[in-house]
Amino acid sequence: MKHIHVELGKDSYDIHVGNGLLDRAGDYIRSLTHTRNIAVISDSHVDGLYGQRLEDSLAAANFTVHRIVFPAGEKNKSAASLLDLYRQLSEAGITRMDYVVAFGGGVTGDLGGFAAATFLRGLPFVQIPTSILAQVDSSVGGKVGIDLPSGKNQAGSFCQPQGVLIDPQLLRTLPPRYVHDGLGEVIKYGCITDLQLFELLEAVDEESIFSHWEEIIERCCSCKARLVERDVLDLGERMVLNFGHTIGHAIERYYDYGVYTHGEAVAAGMSMLTGMTEEMGLTQAGTTARLRHLLQRYGLPQDVDATAAELLPFISNDKKMRGQHMTLVILKEIGKARLLPLDASELPKFIRKKGAK
Ligand SMILES: NC(=O)c1ccc[n+]([C@@H]2O[C@H](COP(=O)([O-])OP(=O)(O)OC[C@H]3O[C@@H](n4cnc5c(N)ncnc54)[C@H](O)[C@@H]3O)[C@@H](O)[C@H]2O)c1
Ligand SMILES: [Zn+2]
Repeated sequence: MKHIHVELGKDSYDIHVGNGLLDRAGDYIRSLTHTRNIAVISDSHVDGLYGQRLEDSLAAANFTVHRIVFPAGEKNKSAASLLDLYRQLSEAGITRMDYVVAFGGGVTGDLGGFAAATFLRGLPFVQIPTSILAQVDSSVGGKVGIDLPSGKNQAGSFCQPQGVLIDPQLLRTLPPRYVHDGLGEVIKYGCITDLQLFELLEAVDEESIFSHWEEIIERCCSCKARLVERDVLDLGERMVLNFGHTIGHAIERYYDYGVYTHGEAVAAGMSMLTGMTEEMGLTQAGTTARLRHLLQRYGLPQDVDATAAELLPFISNDKKMRGQHMTLVILKEIGKARLLPLDASELPKFIRKKGAK
């Protein structure tokens, strides 16, 4: 079992990572609160697979459990689902003394966390993330929210959980598509801050990785926690987490979210960008080949067919761009990232063409 403390003054909390932790969730949450009522928000898949196990653990710790379920899928990270969660929380008689658990992938963490952050002006909540993406990324950092018809994550807030419980064993049932998706973000952490993580990923493969999830998740969460501590509102240093994301988001949008998952688009974004920065002498020689090799090992794309000219219009909307100036996160070498301010007109130079040497 591994523990990571996130130091944010009165909003501090701990992240616990351990195989089998789900069955100890009741004791853990009991150590945080004396309340009786607890609402568990999860999507239909996760509730079907693990809802009863979590309920049993909570009931054994003397909680009265209200399971609140919404249909799985990003399209339900919506205002309509949020209203429905408020209705169910209200019908369950949840008060400000009570607790909420957001139990599921990133969609559940964002939507359930936002419901907890806003229902009755805010209830304490615990995150129990169940997808790789949620275990290494979205459950840490306090960003909660929903999508609006005008764009993803457009309504939300910063609200830190009381704690995060991560049970890597739950990843056994994660569909392969989401395994690859999450691995894109895991590789990103290795690239930006953690050479040892990168080397570990080079040493294992998709099968043997299962015995290393505890360590991998701890390394990713520590990286994110340290960055969040230094930049809780995501205005500066935390930006290095966006490595591969400027191009990655454009890829997702260009293909209308229908071809590449987020992690796949980020993977291609990291490799297309690093190909160019290495050529410019900003990145240590050999980095791109090593990165591409690792992405290939985990079934992730290294390029897309769309050209810089095609992707560009989808970048200009990006929130990382302010006026004509923008900041790219680039690699100095594996394990070391830096911020590179540039003029938006220079951007095409940073997008490697598919098949380029
Ligand atoms: N808040 C943040 O800082 C932050 C950061 C990154 C991403 N996000 C958000 O996270 C969301 C994506 O998260 P996601 O990829 O986890 O999506 P998701 O929550 O939709 O989960 C993916 C799918 O896997 C299923 N699933 C989850 N855990 C499972 C398990 N253990 N076994 C079997 N099936 C399981 C879910 O039911 C769903 O069908 C996006 O909405 C994104 O905006 C938020
Ligand atoms: Zn991401």
